[in-house]
Amino acid sequence: MLFKIKNTEFEMSGTYYGDYLKLDKLLSAQVPLSKSQGQESHDETLFIVVHQVYELWFKQILHELKSIRDLFVGDNIEERSLHSVNERLERIIKIQNLLIDQLPVMETMTPMDFLEFRDLLVPASGFQSIQFRQIEIIMGLPTGRRGKIDRQYFMGRLSEADQKSIDEAEAQQSLFDGLEKWLERIPFTKEKNFDFWNAYRTTVDDMLTNEEQILLKNLATLPEAAKEAQMEGLESTKKTFASLFDPKQFLKLTKSGKRRLSQRATLNALFILLYRDEPILHQPYRLLNLLMDIDENFTSWRQRHAIMAQRMLGTKVGTGGSSGHEYLKMAAEKNRVYLDLFNLSTFLIPRSKLPVLPTELKRQLNFYIAEEGTK
Ligand code: HEM
Repeated sequence: MLFKIKNTEFEMSGTYYGDYLKLDKLLSAQVPLSKSQGQESHDETLFIVVHQVYELWFKQILHELKSIRDLFVGDNIEERSLHSVNERLERIIKIQNLLIDQLPVMETMTPMDFLEFRDLLVPASGFQSIQFRQIEIIMGLPTGRRGKIDRQYFMGRLSEADQKSIDEAEAQQSLFDGLEKWLERIPFTKEKNFDFWNAYRTTVDDMLTNEEQILLKNLATLPEAAKEAQMEGLESTKKTFASLFDPKQFLKLTKSGKRRLSQRATLNALFILLYRDEPILHQPYRLLNLLMDIDENFTSWRQRHAIMAQRMLGTKVGTGGSSGHEYLKMAAEKNRVYLDLFNLSTFLIPRSKLPVLPTELKRQLNFYIAEEGTK
């Protein structure tokens, strides 16, 4: 690159900040439509910059997610890779926090200032954010699974090239698919002389019988309707526990959309949550928690974005043709991917009641186990 100081030209070698970051392209990419129409709306620059910053962060999230998904859809994941997977998931969470915190910046634009240029945007909308869709798809939410709005509706709003990229993303396995296979492969609950789930069920049966006895003791003082409600509650808890083990009931719940992970994957995920204190399960436990954090953060972003849209638009329809706030509220509630992991809390039992694991299994779950009698 050539530089000129006091009429003397000289060459500077090496990397130059602006070239490296392609700032000429990046900083000339904010082109308000209102300006080209002859009357620039001051806040349109903010609107463009905020959206562009989001898209850049979406790019980084996709970069992390793809690398994690690729690892998970393979046949085998080495223990040590789990550590970097978790580091990357942690990074995504930090980025999501920024994404949520950015919405108030957008909200410094008032609804009337937005109206100055809003009509120029039609029919463009966040519906057409391909990177946002790709994130959803890689996480495990293909367009056909999204609440209410069907695939055709989405696709009809996209250019041919974007439709192709959605088709390509959906043709690949998602992180959810990979996680399910990985969970199914976890070996610990199928030991030769030990059926963990028999031991767990005995514990749960004892707990529920105990609960029933406490309930019966206290029922005498309650009115009839309250008695019935309490007994119904207990019966429903028993059924929920039973459905975890009965393949037919499990399948029924899967078909009705109440559960998504396979039965084997669900049971193994529960094992990880129950025995999280065992050293080998530390990283798997962290992984499940991080996935829940990411799912929760997407829901928080969706909820915040829905409220922002309500503040900007009231009950008006969106530029993309949806019902606006109503659609976004529904999307926040319905489009959860890792809900099964959240619902596993139903089946947790106190640490003090966990079935004692046989020594051989304990040995497998520990990096080091003390000689018997030296503990
Ligand atoms: C004035 C600010 C904004 C308003 C009023 C607004 C409004 C809306 C509305 C009404 C929709 C539903 C689709 C439609 O009918 O258009 C939507 C979707 C969406 N918006 Fe925004 N938005 C705003 C800012 C943003 C920002 C800063 C982003 C960041 C990228 C964003 C990302 C999205 C995405 C990804 C969707 C699709 C959501 C889904 O289908 O689940 N929006 N927006």
